[in-house]
Amino acid sequence: MQVLACSNIALELGGRQILSDVNLSVGQAEVVGLAGPNGAGKTSLFEVLSGRNLNHQGKVELNGVDITSLSMQERVKLGLVRTFQRPVVPATLTVGETLKAARKAFDPKPSRLRMEWVAEFVHLNAPMNTPTGGLETLERRKLMLACLLAREPKIVLLDEPASGLTGSEIDEIDLIVRKLAQEYGISVLLIEHRLELLAMVASRVLVLDVGEIIAEGPPDSVFKQPAVRAAYFDVPIESAVGA
Ligand SMILES: Nc1ncnc2c1ncn2[C@@H]1O[C@H](COP(=O)(O)OP(=O)(O)OP(=O)(O)O)[C@@H](O)[C@H]1O
Ligand SMILES: [Mg+2]
Repeated sequence: MQVLACSNIALELGGRQILSDVNLSVGQAEVVGLAGPNGAGKTSLFEVLSGRNLNHQGKVELNGVDITSLSMQERVKLGLVRTFQRPVVPATLTVGETLKAARKAFDPKPSRLRMEWVAEFVHLNAPMNTPTGGLETLERRKLMLACLLAREPKIVLLDEPASGLTGSEIDEIDLIVRKLAQEYGISVLLIEHRLELLAMVASRVLVLDVGEIIAEGPPDSVFKQPAVRAAYFDVPIESAVGA
């Protein structure tokens, strides 16, 4: 059974059609990539899947159960969690307090052991008493991932988790994503622009362009498709064929 699935998703914002007839599914422990040029609608789709925007058409299912009308908080409790594109952390809290707050939403009496385990899982270097406001981008992104894990998710939606990072830092995020799926059986839907990165972690990639899925399949074959190259490089499809 699919862990997450959506069908016929359509979304209008400010009088514009942002998503049209989007269908996707993510299996158990599967890492699925969501690619597409700027403004394609990737984050908007996360808004719909996570329950932050309920003003859409179509159906969203979690483990075969219709969750279309559930709020974001209700979906989190069922194991569907997400990150946001910008790594915003609560500036007035320490790392430890942030993790505790994330866990508390799941378990009213969070154990220190669990906090330490999630920090270790993402290789968080910052000590628990560090104010989050001063963290570098990599540590912020890792802290956000640790907060998701504190909630014992079944599926995580990651919106450009490697954005703003450099080569070796990106490798660290890739490793975390792979570990989530391979060692803990957590499903991942991952938004990422860089196709070469998706090729390293995702078994399947979907490409959105102007709100529609234009290609789907294993990374290697998807990125060779003329429609995908045309969408990315903004060249006519005929030219992209031989590119
Ligand atoms: N609240 C809103 N009201 C009106 N239009 C919006 C709103 N939010 C997003 N949009 C528009 O919807 C389209 C899709 O935006 P979205 O942020 O989903 O794209 P994206 O694929 O995530 O892009 P990026 O790669 O730059 O993050 C864009 O044209 C954007 O301007
Ligand atoms: Mg986006």
